[in-house]
Amino acid sequence: MPHAARAFRALADSSIRAVVTGAAGFIGGHLTARLLAEGADVCGLDRRHPASDLVARRNLAEGCGQSRFSFHHVDLLTPGWEPVLNGADVVFHLAAVPGVRPSWGAAFDEYASCNVIATQRVMNAAIHARVPRVVVASSSSVYGRTDGRPSTENAATRPLSPYGVTKLATEALALAHAGRADSPTTVAALRYFTVYGPGQRPDMLIGRVLSAALEGTPLTVYGSGEQRRDFTYIDDVVDATLAAGRSHASGAFNVGAGAATSVSEVLRVAEQLTGRPVPTRPAPAADGDAPGTLADSTLARDVFGWRARVDLQAGMRRHLKWHCSRHATRCASTA
Ligand code: NAD
Ligand code: UGA
Repeated sequence: MPHAARAFRALADSSIRAVVTGAAGFIGGHLTARLLAEGADVCGLDRRHPASDLVARRNLAEGCGQSRFSFHHVDLLTPGWEPVLNGADVVFHLAAVPGVRPSWGAAFDEYASCNVIATQRVMNAAIHARVPRVVVASSSSVYGRTDGRPSTENAATRPLSPYGVTKLATEALALAHAGRADSPTTVAALRYFTVYGPGQRPDMLIGRVLSAALEGTPLTVYGSGEQRRDFTYIDDVVDATLAAGRSHASGAFNVGAGAATSVSEVLRVAEQLTGRPVPTRPAPAADGDAPGTLADSTLARDVFGWRARVDLQAGMRRHLKWHCSRHATRCASTA
């Protein structure tokens, strides 16, 4: 079967075999749960083990224990895991060291190795195993400073942070592999825009704002608080990722909700939802923090049939509900 046809069959068919790198992460855990719910066999790879890492355990709570899920505790930088890709219909390569602000210092070695070298290894392994479809997590941080209008995929890519540089390299590398002569593999690089929802990484804004409101501990606000983000709800991101897995189109695709909201506005939404003030503490603007992000996701709509459905108010309400399900006493009097 030609690779495109095989990829197209994948995910439409409940017997597909999917590999998720970074499965124990925030987005990877949600994606794994959805793939399993849709009947796929899922093989999750991560260097965090659910038995020894509480966050990994929480993120993989729905996957672990299911017979169609297997977990492989591997560091992608240490060879030996590659045969796991044999027979896969689709690889979702989400493993990376994420986060814009810490990427300047000594940690950059980790960013470079986990985001660039590991991607090269995943792509070589995918091509070798003749995996028809790879979906790679890229980032809005590839764009850098914009003029405030929605970014389309052909806008200039001038990352402002070392992290953004590694994500641009991630997607360029993956797409270069798709373009190799006789490559059996098509690649979609999804430029996710600031993802939030249950299980969000603890370094990120929205979870921190909700915690600050509920616990009364101050939120550090970097810069003026007027920087804007196209905050995108996790379920929409998972929908887009699955839709990209079903397609065979190669290229970079924005995955963003399509509305830019400032940090200050997020605080106001949190205050409204919780009925409590968000105490803040000012801090200088963080190097590498883009003044604004906003996605034009027309391409993902036209090619994958995807569009975001959850607006910020509804998404933050769901995020808060999840937070309260874990910390009931703090939430006793929330709206
Ligand atoms: P996360 O940190 O929660 O998940 C990443 C996972 O990758 C972690 O579990 C980590 O252990 C694993 N990993 C890292 N290096 C590895 C290695 N060498 N070998 C094996 N496993 C390794 O991050 P996330 O927020 O879920 O992000 C997932 C992906 O999406 C990343 O590629 C990130 O750059 C991208 N992204 C995230 C956002 C966002 O807002 N969360 C936005 C844009 C892009
Ligand atoms: C997020 C992810 O962390 C990156 O991994 C991802 O690649 C990126 O989205 C993306 O869209 O590509 P970021 O936009 O910085 O990065 O998301 P948050 O950490 O939620 O921060 C949003 C804004 O809130 C930033 O301007 C940040 O400076 C601000 N912020 C964040 C604070 O003021 N205080 C905090 O405690 C956290």
